[in-house]
Amino acid sequence: MKIATIILAAGMGTRMRSSTPKVLHCLGGKPLIWYSLQAADEVDSELTVVVVGHKAEDVQKEVGDTTRCVVQEPQLGTGHAVQTAQRLTEGSTDLVVVTYADMPLLTGETMRTLIETQKANDGPVTMLTMVLDDSHGFGRVIRFEDGSVQEIVEEAQATPEQLAVRELNVGVYCFDSRWLWDALERVPLSPEGEYYLTDTVGIATGDKLKVQAQVLQDPSEAIGINTRVHLAEAEAVLRRRINTSWMLEGVTLVDPDAVYIEPDVSIGRDTIIHPNTILRGATEIGEECVIGPNSVLDGCKVGSRCKILASVLDAGAVVGDGVVMGPFCHLRQGAHLAEGVRMGNFGEVKNSYLARGVQMGHFSYIGDARIGRNANIGAGTVTCNYDGVDKHPTEIGEDALIGSATMLVAPVKIGDRAQTGAGSVVTRDVPPDTVVVGVPARPKKKTGSEQ
Ligand code: UD1
Ligand code: CA
Repeated sequence: MKIATIILAAGMGTRMRSSTPKVLHCLGGKPLIWYSLQAADEVDSELTVVVVGHKAEDVQKEVGDTTRCVVQEPQLGTGHAVQTAQRLTEGSTDLVVVTYADMPLLTGETMRTLIETQKANDGPVTMLTMVLDDSHGFGRVIRFEDGSVQEIVEEAQATPEQLAVRELNVGVYCFDSRWLWDALERVPLSPEGEYYLTDTVGIATGDKLKVQAQVLQDPSEAIGINTRVHLAEAEAVLRRRINTSWMLEGVTLVDPDAVYIEPDVSIGRDTIIHPNTILRGATEIGEECVIGPNSVLDGCKVGSRCKILASVLDAGAVVGDGVVMGPFCHLRQGAHLAEGVRMGNFGEVKNSYLARGVQMGHFSYIGDARIGRNANIGAGTVTCNYDGVDKHPTEIGEDALIGSATMLVAPVKIGDRAQTGAGSVVTRDVPPDTVVVGVPARPKKKTGSEQ
């Protein structure tokens, strides 16, 4: 059976009080609409159509070229929104799933069950419902005496008895597609001037056709984002979900309420994550690492058995196995620390390669540099890579010993096993096995007494 998914995303989202369209607000670092596209993917939807309207171009840009968008203008209600997608959907599908772009916590699994229920249903539609005490704003699910679904009544039209009903319409449905398009033609204009998708349910039962209801076990899946308060609630639910799954995979989270892990992050077994740690983007962390407290890793790659304390790693940073860093290190774009590098407090590395075993213990800046194996970077060393106009490279050879507070005025090369004295300002290349000192640095004379 072919499945099409229609995602409704045309609404204004007025209550967000924002110049950004609601479905582009972020949850777990990704725009709300990403989650409904992901769920559609998980149910093997052959065709996904997003109905856009308010700030259509911005939303379309986020959706990308691989998924179709239709513009609903004006926005005349949820029934009208689905009708807008008819042209792209009709004839090419057996089942149509309708969902909202502002319901990011709904899982693919719930959608799959909904589809399976509809496949087994003789009637034309299966809807998702939930039982909640706080019914504010939801359509009420009205059942016949025999317990089967009769209709959905919107809050504005509900009688006092209907308002008391606690079974609510989530807003997600699976329709027989041929039936749907005819039924939508029959939806009347509501007193609010909208065409309600919910009216299709009453149309089915009026024709003596069976409507199935699947009751959502975990109502948090149905959190719809209307305000920033809802956004924060959803964030908390998502965080709990992600963190629980990592703990079950063998990752220790010392305080799961204080660790923030985005959906695309991956973490190896027996890694321990301390509080106030934020793992963003497609960050990859190996096994048996200790990360945090107070660290932010954004789209970077960390090997196994690393220790990262109170540090910030920007997108694109790469850290090999067994690296120890922190507190207060900053790896910027293009920083690559090979296996076993040690980086102590207040170090910053940008666009540089530090080979295996390099030690950089205290407040140094390394930019646009390559540092050979086992070199030692003394406290306060700076690669002076910027002359006010251009950036220049620095090379430091293997086993070099850079004295404290050395200024390496780039472009400059320090040979293998060379040494610089404390406070030297190196303006010229230093050959291998040579000691330089002073301002500007000059080779130290190898006199007998000095040796
Ligand atoms: C809708 C349901 C209600 C259900 C509730 C769950 C109807 C008539 N009512 O009410 O039974 O309990 O959702 O949240 O369907 N949208 C469009 N175009 C439109 C109107 C809406 O794309 O013309 C989109 C919105 O962007 C939103 C979704 O549809 O993502 C729901 O619209 P909204 O106006 O929030 O519906 P509710 O009144 O909450
Ligand atoms: Ca709503």
